[in-house]
Amino acid sequence: MTDKEWTSANSAGRWRVVVTKELPGERWLDILIGADCQVDMCTSEALLTAEEIEAAIGERCDGAIGQLTEPWGKQLFGALKGAGGKAYSNYAVGYNNVDVGAATEVEIPVGNTPGVLTETTAETAVGLTFAAARRLIEADRYMRSGRFKGWLPTLFLGELLWRKTVGIIGMGRIGSAYARMMAEGHKMNVVYYDPHRKEEIENYVSAYSNFLKDRGEEPVWCRRAESIEDVLGEADVVSLHTVLNENTRHVINRERLALMKDNAILVNSSRGPLIDEAALVDHCREHPGFRAALDVFEDEPDMKPGLKDLENVVIVPHIGSATGWTRKGMAILAASNVAAILSGYPVWHDEDIFPFLGDDPPKAAPSIVNAGELNIPLYHR
Ligand code: DGY
Repeated sequence: MTDKEWTSANSAGRWRVVVTKELPGERWLDILIGADCQVDMCTSEALLTAEEIEAAIGERCDGAIGQLTEPWGKQLFGALKGAGGKAYSNYAVGYNNVDVGAATEVEIPVGNTPGVLTETTAETAVGLTFAAARRLIEADRYMRSGRFKGWLPTLFLGELLWRKTVGIIGMGRIGSAYARMMAEGHKMNVVYYDPHRKEEIENYVSAYSNFLKDRGEEPVWCRRAESIEDVLGEADVVSLHTVLNENTRHVINRERLALMKDNAILVNSSRGPLIDEAALVDHCREHPGFRAALDVFEDEPDMKPGLKDLENVVIVPHIGSATGWTRKGMAILAASNVAAILSGYPVWHDEDIFPFLGDDPPKAAPSIVNAGELNIPLYHR
């Protein structure tokens, strides 16, 4: 197939499915084998190139599960179609690495894995927020280097976030989960920008606010701003939770960074290119009180020159969804997407994806993003 290492399971299976990285758990494999699939999986940690994936697809391939690090566009969907391919699932909720139009053109359904990453990724964003606000990584480095000589009144002074304002760009599932955590946990007010008003989170925060009032405590609020600029000017913390597309690339650029408070915190656990990273490096250099906490990078896995040398930046390697439960759940959803399409099942269209993790999963594909364009029937309970 390629010179990377591969393993094969159920070689007598009717369908052949290529999986470009080893996935956690066992249930995903049982799902594919249960649907009569031979599963060829790359066990190498090195990222596969498009040419290597094309070679793995070969002359006969019915379905594929790919990674967010891979360019699933015309070339790969063409190869998949040519090999008899009928289904693709990204092993991710985000699918900016996938040219859905190219897949639709050759009538290949594209799956993703929503729902199981929501709380996990929001928790990572919360962790990054406080790591930056309280300078935890700097302090860890200081400790390890043997520089701690005893408690001092001025050592590593950071920012108290309690009762301040958090700004959220993109109030989808993960943004809403982060908003709840910051409002409930830290009594922060929430100002957000999303093209659409999100009444559910506004009502949730309002109900929580009433609870606080009943207890004689200061209320909190959540409101949609008219523009991203308004969020940036008002918030003490700004967390990015929008998808990456041509409208959101560099949504945080030099000019917008300049609108943020000098001691603000910018968190990104969505996609690296949302931020003009070179501009961020300059901004952090010029504003030592400003902090950034990044899980994702513009040229992942690389970083723009200078980023890693800045003390006021926290950097972690795209681990937003990295809990065993979530990553196993993602594997189950990706496998279920491919198995269901190969089995001719309809598509689930309920926000609640959890039935797929239970003992009696629905006979449906959990999430197919181009189901409408391909006229795939919807599941009826
Ligand atoms: C996704 O699923 O889009 C995440 O970035 C993976 O952590």
